[in-house]
Amino acid sequence: MYKIVSKKELTPNVKMFEVHAPAVAHKAEPGQFVIIRYKETGERIPMTIAGTDPEAGTVTIYFAEVGKSSTELGMLEEGEEILNFAGPLGNATKIMNYGKILCVGGGVFVAALLYQIEWFKKAGNQVVAVFGFRNKDHVMLEEEVKAIADEAYICTDDGSYGHKGMGMVDELLEREEFDHVFTIGPTSLQKNLSDKTKPYGIPTNVNLFPIMVDGMGMCGACRVTVAGDTRFSCVDGPEFDGHQVDFDELIMRMRVYNPQEKISMVVHNREVD
Ligand SMILES: Cc1cc2nc3c(=O)[nH]c(=O)nc-3n(C[C@H](O)[C@H](O)[C@H](O)COP(=O)(O)OP(=O)(O)OC[C@H]3O[C@@H](n4cnc5c(N)ncnc54)[C@H](O)[C@@H]3O)c2cc1C
Ligand code: FES
Repeated sequence: MYKIVSKKELTPNVKMFEVHAPAVAHKAEPGQFVIIRYKETGERIPMTIAGTDPEAGTVTIYFAEVGKSSTELGMLEEGEEILNFAGPLGNATKIMNYGKILCVGGGVFVAALLYQIEWFKKAGNQVVAVFGFRNKDHVMLEEEVKAIADEAYICTDDGSYGHKGMGMVDELLEREEFDHVFTIGPTSLQKNLSDKTKPYGIPTNVNLFPIMVDGMGMCGACRVTVAGDTRFSCVDGPEFDGHQVDFDELIMRMRVYNPQEKISMVVHNREVD
């Protein structure tokens, strides 16, 4: 069992857990993920690692309550335990001195990006960060990114805080020269960013979130097409060259269970009421 040693609510639907999982904490690096099962009958939920404290034996995750499983996970309190916390899974981000890098994150995934930025800075990179959110209420980790990155910009879709939309990314690509781009966030954001950086010829690493089940390359659920080849995101990724990913296929596959997920949430809400 894995104890939740601390819990924080960051925005209306985003929670942070620090989980006591010493074996994961000792090995994990940015870019890797865990698969959580919070109870015997629970779904397997993949979550990107957003920090570790090897001495305390803890791993930090940030998650958005988007459906039944993530909402039930968010109902657990500090001191309660998670049944399974498997990891670290997937390949770590290649941390080295790329030079000047642009890091673009969206929504809850900015937490995992911040963890990468810490390591990129330690490796000597000059980091420009852009964090995007739906609106003012969803902005998180602003002070933290401003403290670490060389330049940091906050954007909101509706312009209620910071810069409106993601036009700042176009501006940065136009006026500055980047050696590499890294992104974690909603798939549409990663696709758009890859489309934007392609004409500039800037290598762009995306971090994909296809449906996953086992997280170990056995079930095939996380299949993605990269450079025309079938790859399994859990063992070959989750980071890939964004210019080679078939995003349209990925987005279609991610929607496959939408009807079942909606029904499951309706049933959950009835049970809670
Ligand atoms: C490698 C990886 C890392 C992730 N890291 C994070 C993270 O750090 N924070 C975070 O909030 N979310 C993360 N996700 C997404 C998270 O796993 C899903 O939001 C969660 O499983 C949704 O479950 P649900 O029952 O609450 O919602 P549902 O209603 O079941 O699904 C809502 C949406 O979540 C996605 N989803 C559902 N089940 C899965 C699954 N088994 N695997 C992948 N995606 C699924 C689908 O796109 C679906 O449309 C990650 C996903 C992957 C694959
Ligand atoms: S999640 Fe099963 S093969 Fe990747």
